[in-house]
Amino acid sequence: MRNWGFEMKVGFLQFAPVFGKKEDNLRTVRDLLEHIQADVIVLPELFSTGYAFLDKDELAGLAEPVQGETAEFMHGLAQATGCAFAFGFAERAGDRFYNSMAFVTPEGMVTAYRKSHLFFEEKFLFAPGDTGFNTFEYKGVKIGLLICWDWIYPEAMRTLVLQGSQVILHAANLVTPYCPDAMVTRAIENRVFVITADRCGDEIRGSKNFHFIGKSQAVAPNGDLLVRVAEETCVRVIEIDPALALDKKITEHNDLLAERRPDLYFKTQQNQPG
Ligand code: ACM
Repeated sequence: MRNWGFEMKVGFLQFAPVFGKKEDNLRTVRDLLEHIQADVIVLPELFSTGYAFLDKDELAGLAEPVQGETAEFMHGLAQATGCAFAFGFAERAGDRFYNSMAFVTPEGMVTAYRKSHLFFEEKFLFAPGDTGFNTFEYKGVKIGLLICWDWIYPEAMRTLVLQGSQVILHAANLVTPYCPDAMVTRAIENRVFVITADRCGDEIRGSKNFHFIGKSQAVAPNGDLLVRVAEETCVRVIEIDPALALDKKITEHNDLLAERRPDLYFKTQQNQPG
């Protein structure tokens, strides 16, 4: 469905979750979002638990099934506000843990995604995601989910865009400085909207010491930075026209996706001219 001219109100919540204080973090989110007027808001990775788990026992005490306390809370907030939410959470599935993200609307959960590319010591806590990248539709707009370090693999966003994603919702806990600028390139190379919800603040626990860079942002398919914030607690909402992401023509002679050369990308050098 093309829906030209349809404006979707999308945005993000950036804040500093307090490690292990799930109820406090959920209360903070409710206080910041209970009057939100938007179609879709993205929250950070692992927003209800915090990030710096010391070990799997600690993770086990805070992780939840997909339809757990955090999802129930976000669904309640979606029903109260009419807004849909994309958010990161620590998932427990049997004896495994995933760094996951879900999308809930007032009608309920649409999908959950497990982080494919684990960063740093996450590898000692979480299993690598096995859901793959799945595009879904909400209000006539095709949407894809990514979690933090997924950004550094261009294939991840490209896969979603090849499925038709027009808007990428990216839940993050950024500690390296590269992502915000790199996402401008990702948006241009895919001609897609990219909304990154990062966290801010610090977590110093045992030998772990993380400073999260903030800089949540939204980028348009032409690379325009629609909004970027500093290291602050804030909510931002912007209006986008998702149909702009359906136009993959960069010049009248260059269609971004149609001119890909997958026949060449996975080959070692075989043919030499001359
Ligand atoms: C990250 O993936 N949280 C950097």
